[in-house]
Amino acid sequence: MAVRLSQLTPSSFSTQPSSLRSPPMASSLGGGAASSSSRLFSSSSRARLSLFSSPSSSSLSFLSLSSSASLKSPAFSPLRSHLSRNQGRSAFKLSSGRFSTVASPKCAASNPDQLKSAREDIKELLKTKFCHPILIRLGWHDAGTYNKNIEEWPQRGGANGSLRFEVELKHGANAGLVNALNLIQSIKDKYSGVTYADLFQLASATAIEEAGGPKIPMKYGRVDVTGPEQCPEEGRLPDAGPLSPADHLREVFYRMGLNDKEIVALSGAHTLGRSRPERSGWGKPETKYTKDGPGAPGGQSWTVQWLKFDNSYFKDIKEKRDQDLLVLPTDAVLFEDPSFKVYAEKYAEDQEAFFKDYAEAHAKLSNLGAKFDPPEGIVIDNGPAQAAPEKFVAANYSSGKD
Ligand code: HEM
Repeated sequence: MAVRLSQLTPSSFSTQPSSLRSPPMASSLGGGAASSSSRLFSSSSRARLSLFSSPSSSSLSFLSLSSSASLKSPAFSPLRSHLSRNQGRSAFKLSSGRFSTVASPKCAASNPDQLKSAREDIKELLKTKFCHPILIRLGWHDAGTYNKNIEEWPQRGGANGSLRFEVELKHGANAGLVNALNLIQSIKDKYSGVTYADLFQLASATAIEEAGGPKIPMKYGRVDVTGPEQCPEEGRLPDAGPLSPADHLREVFYRMGLNDKEIVALSGAHTLGRSRPERSGWGKPETKYTKDGPGAPGGQSWTVQWLKFDNSYFKDIKEKRDQDLLVLPTDAVLFEDPSFKVYAEKYAEDQEAFFKDYAEAHAKLSNLGAKFDPPEGIVIDNGPAQAAPEKFVAANYSSGKD
């Protein structure tokens, strides 16, 4: 049974040096909605919420938030004006009703050429904003609500684009993800033939690959939910500080149909990114590794090079030597639980094994709960699904004479 952080004292976390223990202000990753959403939407004068429809989908509402708290980073300011422009347009669309109920001819959920072009735009965005981690978190939080015990779509949750709706963005676990949505909204606007559900997963997989991670064997064609009433209830994502982290991780990830190996491999995504106390309640406001960015400065990373995807997460959380690096209770347990530990030790030693298992687990995560049109999905990569690791050929490195 998961216990919220608010039930714990910081000293419960023996894995964290005292200076790293975070005040559980947001209470949990998966809970604490009230506190987190009150930070994001603290008052109507500071947060402006608006509905608008995108010409590119049948969705009717999307959150536009202009909040001094969550959008103060200069990295996001250009998009604020972009969103303001959209607000004007959408008011017209909503009042005219032109985009709400028109039946579209039968076609695949997303267009392969547009998916490829959108991927190029995502690469450009990554180069300028260094937003790899938050795009990965966006994809994970859309997919990670899946419940394998519910057969019906979209009640089963998962990768269906529901995270674009205000009601889900306000879940405590999703604090800060409105920034990720704002970052990719202009790409969504450009490609009417790409669903939100696909765009979230495309952005996440592209971010992993661009950060130096493995090629993810992705498929596309995810159908979007159409309204906020189709969002999952709050509380399906994991807490960072439950009383019994191993039990909690199993409860949440088994519900998604994932196993111990996949839990450990996917946790390796924390090789990228930072935790911010003003979002999740975890981590330091800044460290020597994050105070200068890139991207919006601050937060506490799990690794030194937090924009490079490699196996350093496993090495660092095993050693726990650097007070400037974060170890959540759910990270530490990967080296404490006997079953998790087998994989965590292996990944700390063998990056190739980690990359292989990560790529498979990530692809599986990205498909959870998704309804594909066409049912077999759309593959946009021509090459082999799995990038072949470069073979060591002695001759290539020889300085000797031929
Ligand atoms: C195992 C359970 C997990 C827990 C308890 C957890 C918890 C957290 C927390 C507390 C944060 C900090 C959020 C913030 O303050 O902005 C975070 C960030 C992040 N998480 Fe997880 N997470 C889990 C699994 C995953 C998985 C499966 C993935 C991806 C496959 C993932 C990817 C990320 C990334 C990339 C960030 C950095 C976001 C950024 O820098 O903006 N996490 N996670």
